[in-house]
Amino acid sequence: MKIVVIQGPNLNMLGVREKQIYGPMRLEQIHAQMKEVAEQNGVEIEFFQTNLEGEIVDKIQECYGEANGIIINPAAYTHTSIAIRDAISAVGIPTIEVHISNIHRREEFRKVNMIAPVCASSIVGFGPFGYHLAMMGMLQILSELKAVHDAQMAAQAEA
Ligand code: DQA
Repeated sequence: MKIVVIQGPNLNMLGVREKQIYGPMRLEQIHAQMKEVAEQNGVEIEFFQTNLEGEIVDKIQECYGEANGIIINPAAYTHTSIAIRDAISAVGIPTIEVHISNIHRREEFRKVNMIAPVCASSIVGFGPFGYHLAMMGMLQILSELKAVHDAQMAAQAEA
């Protein structure tokens, strides 16, 4: 089982950018914690950060046939990117969207969300802890998928 974590624009600036909104934690620290959880659960994990929309689309497409789950914070592209939304839809991989801040209680333009309708779940406003919650949620989704898959295999073996 493999989870791919995709981080959008300016998230490489965590720990520096608007600490009153995003907190002091750096992206590397968030990823280190997620890696630990993945290892404890025997799941492979890959991290990818870019400031470019097309690179996010490419990465989502690369996940097809490779990843079982995607955790994504599309950052500002959340509010504008039909291309990222279409890519998530196209690959059909269970996806959890994370936002460090509560996008619903900020500026009006952040209330527009192109991504949420194609995600299994959205986690907002928990700070960096949201990534941990996303890991928990994704592990649950993956274990449910595995149970369905195992049951199908068992039924086929009996037939
Ligand atoms: C964000 C919220 C977005 O509105 C913003 O553009 C970001 C970060 C968050 O994690 O809270 O860059 O996705």
